[in-house]
Amino acid sequence: MWSDGRLCYGGDYNPEQWPARVWAEDVALMRRARVNLVTVGVFAWSRLEPAPGRYTFDWLDQVLDLLHSGGIRVALATPTASPPPWFSLAHPGALPVTADGVRLHHGSRDTYCAATPAYREAALRIAGALADRYAHHPALALWHVHNEYGTTCHCEHTARAFRRWLADRHGDLATLNDVWTTSFWSQHYSDWAQISTPRATQYLANPGHLLDFRRFWSDTLLAAYTEQRDLLRAANPAIPITTNYVLGDWVPVDHARWAREVDLVAVDHYPSAADGGAEEQTALAGDLARGWARHAATGRRTPVAAGRATTDPPATPDPPAWLLMESAPNQIHTGGRMHTKEPGRMIRHSLAHVARGSHGAMFFQWRAPAGGAERFHSALVPHAGPDSRVFREAAELGAALERLTEVQGSVEASVAVAVDAPSAWALRQPGLPSPRLDHHEEVAAAHRALWHTGYGCDTVAPGDPLDGYRLLVLPALYLASDTTADWVRDYVHGGGHLLATYLSGAADEHARVRLGGYPGALRDVLGVWAEEFHPLADGDHVRLADGGTGLVWAETLRPAGADAVGWYAGGVLDGLPAVTRHRHGAGTAWYVSTRPDDDTYRRLLDRAARAAGATPVCPDAPPGVEAVRRRGDRVSWLFLLNHTDRELRVPARGVDLLTGAPVDEAVILPPGGVAVLRERTG
Ligand code: GAL
Repeated sequence: MWSDGRLCYGGDYNPEQWPARVWAEDVALMRRARVNLVTVGVFAWSRLEPAPGRYTFDWLDQVLDLLHSGGIRVALATPTASPPPWFSLAHPGALPVTADGVRLHHGSRDTYCAATPAYREAALRIAGALADRYAHHPALALWHVHNEYGTTCHCEHTARAFRRWLADRHGDLATLNDVWTTSFWSQHYSDWAQISTPRATQYLANPGHLLDFRRFWSDTLLAAYTEQRDLLRAANPAIPITTNYVLGDWVPVDHARWAREVDLVAVDHYPSAADGGAEEQTALAGDLARGWARHAATGRRTPVAAGRATTDPPATPDPPAWLLMESAPNQIHTGGRMHTKEPGRMIRHSLAHVARGSHGAMFFQWRAPAGGAERFHSALVPHAGPDSRVFREAAELGAALERLTEVQGSVEASVAVAVDAPSAWALRQPGLPSPRLDHHEEVAAAHRALWHTGYGCDTVAPGDPLDGYRLLVLPALYLASDTTADWVRDYVHGGGHLLATYLSGAADEHARVRLGGYPGALRDVLGVWAEEFHPLADGDHVRLADGGTGLVWAETLRPAGADAVGWYAGGVLDGLPAVTRHRHGAGTAWYVSTRPDDDTYRRLLDRAARAAGATPVCPDAPPGVEAVRRRGDRVSWLFLLNHTDRELRVPARGVDLLTGAPVDEAVILPPGGVAVLRERTG
């Protein structure tokens, strides 16, 4: 199994960047830091196959043997995210083309088009060669396919594959013309051959075209992953397989759908905010990963040992696991500048992920290189070497993770926040009423408010089971198919509490606006309809009668069964409803027609959550302390993370696994400190 019972600890290890004499020191230092899993070979294609079909595995043989003898297991990567120079020279047609028609050249990474047969064949060949040689290596714990799938292309191969995908999705041109509304601006297609990728064009592009192109890339990249996965699995079905997810607006990957195809969800997370925003982003990333993990391959529940040659399927612990595959040991990259993480912060971020279900903490990267594009990216062994704060903290984290081996189980969550990749893609399109519409940002704002008020949160995708949640939040869930609308309706009708924000349900799955007033598909559940919208300028806001503030958006809202519970104050909307509440079946549905600012959102979500019967994870935790609870069988573990620079007292009982100290009444958290209490529950 990729986990030998311990939490995974380690990161990307690039021995190909170092002379062999460094490798022994690496293994010795890894043992000192209690590293137990390293990702090897992610960008090593040119060193593994220096010429077409000529493999140089000798160095990798030595490295894997050395790691194995040091008791360190390996997530062996297929190096297909960075084809060697010879490949690009031999197959210039496999180099990616931008929307402007510019063909990119070799010189960085990801210089391939995943819709190009030559690339796919070469990728399968190197993956196959690695499988032949290492599928039964005793160090092998996990296959790590590729790196951060997400790049796109507009070449002719892509255009052909896109047309095939469209024919498959829509069946006939009449349907495509209808769902893309091609009668607008004379875009009617009379032959599939007329359809290209959505390249740079004169003015606004067609929304259906743009949306389908993203869906196409999600499926195409997934096919590139699954064909490697199937080949690796055939070589040794006992070894689990994954790929590391990258988060970001630019990524055309529907991670929830992909999760069904991986044996464990693995995410890379690099916060972009240097202040408390990094902690908020960390919490959201962990909750997203756990949400995706619930979609992961089912029926893979039995642990297997590393490298065991059996025909058992790979294992996924119950509840479905996920792993923080990459994070930064030190600097946070923020607006081009690197912010050095304060002492203790790296450990807190790592344990925040473990609290949210990550089966360990992995980093990019083990040792900082002297050269190369990312020469100043942080590493567990920094440029300064092991006699450094960063390495000492790395060793401290390794020891802490070992003390947390017993932690397992589900994460307590009473609120579900819906996340939908196609809604996010559609809201970033041109031609919308405001360039500030952003589903991910709306998810983050809702999550941030719940995080600050202390509610445990799961993220869900439309259609996911909602049993047990007190409150479902739809943050600008713009696209709602009829099925999605039924999912929401059934939940509320059956007694659930819902809080939906503006534009949720306003468009169908093809990004066509639903007529009759916003929020389209959800008007009946919410008991309101919006007649007009009022997008706000950057820095602009609307006032609310209770003293709150709205940002980004406002609406002229008409109750149709709902009661107003919040009003606009001042301006053209003065006295009109801003927030409403509606009884629907046995449930309650709130509608929020603006984006509340952080303080307003906290108050509002706290009110809705309390009314729904939800309670914060640790109601007595002081502000600045993050509390997350994992629940196992007759035992639970309470993670308390002090994100302030003050000593704080948190009423709690149990045993602190990090220190071994019993806690009878309260735990005293030093500034930036963490406690993980084992609580007996039965
Ligand atoms: C990740 C990537 C790594 C490294 C890292 C730097 O997205 O997978 O290879 O580039 O970013 O932050």
